[in-house]
Amino acid sequence: MATGTTNGQTRSTQVGIIGAGPAGLLMSHLLHRAGIDNVVLEQRDRQYTLDRIRAGVLEQGTVEFLTGAGLGDRLHSEALLHHGIYLQYGRERHRVPFTDLIDRSVWVYGQQEVVKDLVAALDDAGTPALYEATNVAVHDLESDRPSVTYTHDGGEHRLECDVIVGADGFHGVCRPSIPSTHLTTYQRDYPFAWLGILAKVAPSTDELIYALHEKGFAMHSMRSETVSRLYLQVDPTDSIENWSGERIWAELDERLATPGWTLAHGEIFDKGITPMRSFVSSTMRYGQLFLVGDAAHIVPPTGAKGLNLAVWDVALLSAALQEHFLRQSSAGLDAYSEKAVQRIWEIQHFSTWMTRMLHRFSSTPGITSEADEFDYQVQLGQLSHLVRSSHGMAHLSQYYTGLDMGLETGQGGARG
Ligand code: FAD
Ligand code: DHB
Repeated sequence: MATGTTNGQTRSTQVGIIGAGPAGLLMSHLLHRAGIDNVVLEQRDRQYTLDRIRAGVLEQGTVEFLTGAGLGDRLHSEALLHHGIYLQYGRERHRVPFTDLIDRSVWVYGQQEVVKDLVAALDDAGTPALYEATNVAVHDLESDRPSVTYTHDGGEHRLECDVIVGADGFHGVCRPSIPSTHLTTYQRDYPFAWLGILAKVAPSTDELIYALHEKGFAMHSMRSETVSRLYLQVDPTDSIENWSGERIWAELDERLATPGWTLAHGEIFDKGITPMRSFVSSTMRYGQLFLVGDAAHIVPPTGAKGLNLAVWDVALLSAALQEHFLRQSSAGLDAYSEKAVQRIWEIQHFSTWMTRMLHRFSSTPGITSEADEFDYQVQLGQLSHLVRSSHGMAHLSQYYTGLDMGLETGQGGARG
């Protein structure tokens, strides 16, 4: 396989990828497999990117795509296959049986594990990302030879490319490098955040529980037979220091309670608060720069879509790049932004729907107005209808397990 050439402090490659999160690493892996030379530049150190705890649910299409890309070995032996989820409100739990309704399922497999598999695949191929590359800046995006400058090991470097992929997350440098006159964005912040924990305790449930409680949303997820992942809706201005282990478990006990069921407690070994926002950049291409994943969009996590959406962007763009470099056709690249954005809005719809249905909204933090109370009663009505409607449950199942990717991997398709 070709590798980038070094000429003093200038190096050249076909695709420069900024960011070694799941999006950047997967892009690099797919392009290397297709024989397309690329270099990934990551600002953090390798261990930091491996330790970062985030998403946990993979759609069926994502699993099929990763498997087709040669990344399925550990996934198929360690991921937990789930055939449904529970929706809970008013101390009642109702199962949404995905597989019975639409013959689809999801896998619980931490984002960390996906990253670990990608890092191992790139190591095996002898093409690891370049970590601790700081002061990354992109240049000449409108030209057919854009470049990236960065600092590494105390030296200044330049990477000349044909195409740059911005996989540098929401706070990266790529999207802000698009002139504001060419950039259209949409944003919505939510009046709450998620407090998430990892605990050394066997899950108290066989499938994920999404609960709406008078005091706010709660969720019970998991990572393995011995590790549970749980979330609580909290005020976005709250600080994690205010939440002792005891307080977290007491709140989870209360919000997840159903008659005859108890939540097992254990040692909390990770906790953090994440604000919630929806964001879409409907400009995903500027000149030779293409954005993927969180660099272009953020969804509130209630539908478990962030990581899956990033994989879909990468699948779409890598196919277009292969068409461009191997078959000299730019049709896929020209269609990329519009096609990706259309899907993003469909997923924003699902994530917004789940978020509105399952969280307590209050117009003034800490105060529940008459209108907020009205809205809460409407949400209970919505849930009560949903769990009795086979059409409603099938609709949720279809979205949750993943919309049709309409794409193919190098080997085997990712069907919807
Ligand atoms: P990222 O994972 O953000 O990766 C971007 C990479 O680019 C990072 O490694 C970063 O260090 C690097 N980078 C940034 N700037 C630069 C620069 N200037 N130069 C070089 N490198 C740079 N989704 C869910 O579905 N469920 C969840 O529970 C969930 N929890 C989350 C919790 C948190 C705290 C966050 C931030 C996100 C969460 N998400 C969740 C979303 C999901 O994790 C993301 O959608 C996913 O990580 C997107 O992958 P990405 O590769 O596009 O971006
Ligand atoms: C997890 C995160 C989510 O956002 C979600 O909807 C389901 C599960 C998790 O981290 O396990």
